[in-house]
Amino acid sequence: MMGHGMVAAAVLLVFRAAVLMDAAAANVDIGRGVDVLQRFGIIGDVLYGDVSNTKETVTRDILEGADRFTEILNVTKNHTNLLNITFCPDLDCLFDVYFDGFQVEFADKPWKLLTTSRSLHMISDRFGLPDMAMGFGQKFVIVSYRRPLKRIKTYDNFTQIAELKSTLVEKIKCISIGIESMVTDFIAEYGSHYIDEYTIGDTVFQVLVYLPVFYDMFYKCVLNNCSESDTALYLSPVYTEYQGQVTSIGSKDIMEKWIETNLQMETSQGDKYVSLYALKNRPDLCRELATHMDGQSVVGLHLKVVSTFFADPVKRTWFAEVLDNHVKLREVNL
Ligand SMILES: *[C@@H]1O[C@H](CO)[C@@H](O)[C@H](O)[C@H]1NC(C)=O
Ligand SMILES: *[C@@H]1O[C@H](CO)[C@@H](O)[C@H](O)[C@H]1NC(C)=O
Ligand SMILES: *[C@@H]1O[C@H](CO)[C@@H](O)[C@H](O)[C@H]1NC(C)=O
Ligand SMILES: *[C@@H]1O[C@H](CO)[C@@H](O)[C@H](O)[C@H]1NC(C)=O
Ligand SMILES: *[C@@H]1O[C@H](CO)[C@@H](O)[C@H](O)[C@H]1NC(C)=O
Repeated sequence: MMGHGMVAAAVLLVFRAAVLMDAAAANVDIGRGVDVLQRFGIIGDVLYGDVSNTKETVTRDILEGADRFTEILNVTKNHTNLLNITFCPDLDCLFDVYFDGFQVEFADKPWKLLTTSRSLHMISDRFGLPDMAMGFGQKFVIVSYRRPLKRIKTYDNFTQIAELKSTLVEKIKCISIGIESMVTDFIAEYGSHYIDEYTIGDTVFQVLVYLPVFYDMFYKCVLNNCSESDTALYLSPVYTEYQGQVTSIGSKDIMEKWIETNLQMETSQGDKYVSLYALKNRPDLCRELATHMDGQSVVGLHLKVVSTFFADPVKRTWFAEVLDNHVKLREVNL
């Protein structure tokens, strides 16, 4: 790892304003091929709202009739009171939480692949924080309210019933074992992974930044069954260094006004501040907020290795080995 600035730069994207366009426009669909070594960052742009590349095809149609083997699950639950509070001792953890719904076969930290270089400014902006809040030694707490709506996934027997398009089958025949560039060329053209599952919905979140001493106090309080009033106090400017803006993965503009007026709290000194914790025990507010949340943002994505579909087991193994090495190298270097 090259230090926090770099890592931070790599990730901001995730929370970048989201898929204003719907999942289809973002080219996210079951069975489509994605090159996680090169184009994944661009997909990240599309997913999280940097639309400069939307005209470019970021995923490839590589499987024959994948939509026939796709199911759509309704994952809307009664979430009206489920505020999630997560403690993050470092920035990497913050990214892990943000990327919670993202899985990439062979990658332990898919967010490192999900992104292209971002400036520290873009990252802190996406997290709703001033740039200087990202300094060393700070600790974070994320309060989030998730609202997944639909999970679109392949059938469990997908790898047995789906097939690669014939052009790809021909290309694979030409790959010689031992020549790494043949694998990487194939990946650049068609993708390393295919989309096995994705979830659309939205998440509203707030990042709070603490000095270690107050973070530790808050954490101990939670371990010892912290009361709601103590929790509210620890989440207030009395203890935080920075009070991040309440923001969302989806179109946050729509929500800003609502949040500003409905999620206000007040310290005992009479200082007003905005806290997502205002949703606690307020199913009415949760329901109202839900109507302002985006139902089309991609909040989860599972990618699996395309070589699963290769008929020749030797080539399947060779391809997987080369890809695995490249993914690991990326993760180490980002
Ligand atoms: C999906 O969830 C929503 C919200 O709870 C509910 O209104 C709808 O009836 C559900 N649809 C199905 C097909 O279960
Ligand atoms: C959802 O949960 C809230 C509070 O826990 C409850 O008041 C409400 O009736 C529930 N709604 C449904 C549809 O179950
Ligand atoms: C809370 O966040 C953690 C970390 O992202 C996640 O693993 C967990 O499933 C979340 N819980 C709920 C109820 O959303
Ligand atoms: C695959 O799974 C689907 C849905 O579960 C089922 O309808 C179909 O018969 C299965 N096909 C095979 C070849 O197992
Ligand atoms: C936590 O505290 C609440 C009230 O402060 C109490 O009702 C509950 O039983 C406590 N739970 C545990 C596990 O101590």
